[in-house]
Amino acid sequence: MKGLILSGGRGTRLRPITFTSAKQLVPVANRPVLFYGIQAMAEAGIDEVGIIIAPETGEEIRAAAGDGSDFGVRITYIVQDEPAGLAHAVLTAEPFLGVDPFVMYLGDNLLQGGITELVEAFRTGSPDALILLTPVPDPEHYGVAELNDGRVTRLQEKPAEPKTDLALVGVYMFTPGIHEAARAISPSARGELEITDAIQWLVDQDRRVEPHVVRGWWKDTGRLEDMLEANRLVLDTIERRVQGELTDSQVEGRVVIEPGAVLERSTVRGPAIVGAGARLVDAYVGPYTAVGAGCRVERAEVEHSILLEGSSVRDLPARMESSLLGRDVAIRRSLGQPRAFRFLVGDRSEIGIV
Ligand code: G1P
Repeated sequence: MKGLILSGGRGTRLRPITFTSAKQLVPVANRPVLFYGIQAMAEAGIDEVGIIIAPETGEEIRAAAGDGSDFGVRITYIVQDEPAGLAHAVLTAEPFLGVDPFVMYLGDNLLQGGITELVEAFRTGSPDALILLTPVPDPEHYGVAELNDGRVTRLQEKPAEPKTDLALVGVYMFTPGIHEAARAISPSARGELEITDAIQWLVDQDRRVEPHVVRGWWKDTGRLEDMLEANRLVLDTIERRVQGELTDSQVEGRVVIEPGAVLERSTVRGPAIVGAGARLVDAYVGPYTAVGAGCRVERAEVEHSILLEGSSVRDLPARMESSLLGRDVAIRRSLGQPRAFRFLVGDRSEIGIV
């Protein structure tokens, strides 16, 4: 069995972060989202992993994940020239996949508990496809499934009026019949070859498509609020490890302080992670915060936020929360005259002030 991770896509809903970086590399608990998918494959015993990359962000993804040896897998990179849909990605990967069954994993998805059990169920039951479903409050943003007597009857991609609340999770298991299905369908209204339509084609051909309702949590990290929630869910599972240098500081609860981080007169209240070489001075880092490597938090309070490496937050008169800062972002109180807000902000940034 092979693995296919989809890491193309433009990540438009995470701009401006994705103007300069692939969405699959945005860190959750200081680790790129993509790494959780690769790790899930490795844990399920899948060692041949193809990663679909886009021409624009592919190099960055290659540099981050390498040949896969850090994860115990062999990675083959496959360039998809245009973001023409998930079924198009499957067709692009056909030379790599051959006639093997495979797990397809969307590179911006996080699934609690990995995929080991599901791969097992797929191997034992040998259906033509196995899909994962989970109830969500906003099914119109996902592929939506209708079931009858435990069988899949209909799948629709982002329907305006969903018939159920069962969303298609971005992890699928396929036999090679999916290639035929992907060739048989036409582009959707958004101009993409939808994997949802390809699976519907299998259903129409009376192939066996087995639904599995996910028990643990699942997150598609496509939007800021999802990213923050994914960060919260993963931080909830970390184990305490304090390796930095602490001076007159407190670290409470489930906290990771990486080696080389320095805390002076600061409090970190977990679940939280502070990356290598970060520096907290007279700071408070509250629950569900991931402070990236080399960040600075000085005379400021930060909570429920993600700071990418090299960012700094200084001298804030109020607590910063529910924020995502890209790399090398600097936020500080400006004390010069005239007393005014001063911004140097890229396209599509969002700023909330008090
Ligand atoms: C894709 C699929 C959708 C699925 C979702 C899960 O949507 O098209 O069916 O529910 O992933 O993350 P996209 O994120 O590409 O809009």
